Amino acid sequence: MVAFKVTRVGTTPFDGQKPGTSGLRKKVKVFTQPHYLQNFVQATFNALGSDKVKGATLVISGDGRYFSKDAIQVITKMAAANGVRRVWVGQHGLMSTPAVSAVVRDRVGADGSKANGAFILTASHNPGGPHEDFGVKYNMENGGPAPEGVTNKIYENTTTIKEYLIAEGLPDVDISKTGVSSFEGPDGKFDVDVFDSTIDYVKLMKSIFDFLSIQKLLSSPKFGFCYDALHGVAGYYAKRIFVEELGGKESSLLNCVPKEDFGGGHPDPNLTYAKELVARMGLSKSLSEPNPPEFGAAADGDADRNMILGKRFFVTPSDSVAIIAANAVEAIPYFSGGLKGVARSMPTSAALDVVAKSLNLKFYEVPTGWKFFGNLMDAGMCSICGEESFGTGSDHIREKDGIWAVLAWLSILADKNKDNLGGEKLVSVEDIVRQHWATYGRHYYTRYDYENVDAAGAKELMAHLVKLQSSLDEVNKIIKGIHSDVSNVVHGDEFEYKDPVDSSISKHQGIRYLFEDGSRLVFRLSGTGSEGATIRVYIEQYEKDPSKIGRDSQEALAPLVEVAIKLSKMQEFTGRSAPTVIT
Ligand code: G6P
Ligand code: ZN
Repeated sequence: MVAFKVTRVGTTPFDGQKPGTSGLRKKVKVFTQPHYLQNFVQATFNALGSDKVKGATLVISGDGRYFSKDAIQVITKMAAANGVRRVWVGQHGLMSTPAVSAVVRDRVGADGSKANGAFILTASHNPGGPHEDFGVKYNMENGGPAPEGVTNKIYENTTTIKEYLIAEGLPDVDISKTGVSSFEGPDGKFDVDVFDSTIDYVKLMKSIFDFLSIQKLLSSPKFGFCYDALHGVAGYYAKRIFVEELGGKESSLLNCVPKEDFGGGHPDPNLTYAKELVARMGLSKSLSEPNPPEFGAAADGDADRNMILGKRFFVTPSDSVAIIAANAVEAIPYFSGGLKGVARSMPTSAALDVVAKSLNLKFYEVPTGWKFFGNLMDAGMCSICGEESFGTGSDHIREKDGIWAVLAWLSILADKNKDNLGGEKLVSVEDIVRQHWATYGRHYYTRYDYENVDAAGAKELMAHLVKLQSSLDEVNKIIKGIHSDVSNVVHGDEFEYKDPVDSSISKHQGIRYLFEDGSRLVFRLSGTGSEGATIRVYIEQYEKDPSKIGRDSQEALAPLVEVAIKLSKMQEFTGRSAPTVIT
């Protein structure tokens, strides 16, 4: 057995190693500076404490983006030196974020071991490649992101770090082949277990959904299906699930070969970046598609996000979670016993609130970031949750889950069409959404993103919006001057959340303007960017009147959008006359 020694390497702190909403994300050129990754990893081990690290089993894998393979070798050697007993690595270093969560919660190693945590190597929906982003995120024993208490400690440690530990004499492990390699260190045996992570994930999905009914739907000649992984890690699972398990056609898969640079694209599943899928679904303004499939979906780089599309039809993520919640008990075996509760992030539209109220479900509104859902789920308070940022999931794991969301929609479609597969016309995605609006009313919704704006300007804009809230009379005067028919603001605040489970308080979670007619304007700074600041403006309007639910959403929201832009003095503070992305 190859033996290794532990070397202590002297180092000095780097500025700015503060983990954001989902770990530390920086340009590759920042991460590849000598000691940069090592400092952050050691700061994480130190934050966990040696009793949690010594003897532990850790997962190390990610979405396969550029620099992942090198980072896996470095973290493995540091884990060995810090007394970790074994690491689990997905074959080729690939594991989607939801699969990591599933593996941490459910996998049992050949020797009966269970995982204690995970380093996930991803910058999610940010582009990859030598000039783009890399990221490291630590997840805990429950399979969810480290809570703020831990990430704050990691950050503090990065500001004082003096040395890190690394194994000397431990060779690079071949992560292209499955199998266990064992080594001998000062603390005893150290194993690297390279395995195929699709196995556990497929097993989990099969325990949640009725694969047979989805298979029937997919085999109907009337049902076309298309899945775009945007060259992220989702492709790896999509092939296994949609083609091998569910019998979908190989040609249904777009961009399903994972690439280190995501093929040069932006692996974010929205109408702007998922161009090929959008065209195939007949939603491209410039390209016409004579016969789009019935159903289309896309994922982000690490496969936790999803976008759901019907034929020439876009489902907003806020509607998607509401529709899944409304149909789950009926269509998804995992939920047949009922839902424990539902939750959404604050900027997500209130479509879910209406479902919760009507079905008499417990409901929670939490700040942006999946970890808040995790707390509720660990306490058995929530079954289904979602975010406007193309994230949907359930308590089967502690991350959002892109492929789960697609299977949820396919289950709903299979259920609605179960007696109709031989019929004239299938119940479509659009039919399901319109029926939902007719029952619960419609939340017109849009988000404007101003990416990579000057950070100082963004801060000033936010300060200006907070200051305005001290006089709602003044706000309403300004609004009437912009659009006389927009209703009055009746409440303005910065969203603050008290976690019902651990009573922790999260402040400054977005600026809200709530209108008399139920409309909302929300302003937030993104916590996931790696450069400059990104301002997000969330615009929402509720319409109950069935005769008014069929409008084009940008047209319906135009007055409120104008109010948002003028009230915030967007152009003045950022110099931008238009957003970078509209979703
Ligand atoms: C990540 C988190 C989500 C969150 C999103 C917000 O994807 O996992 O839970 O909604 O970031 O991103 P933002 O850029 O708006 O902070
Ligand atoms: Zn992601």
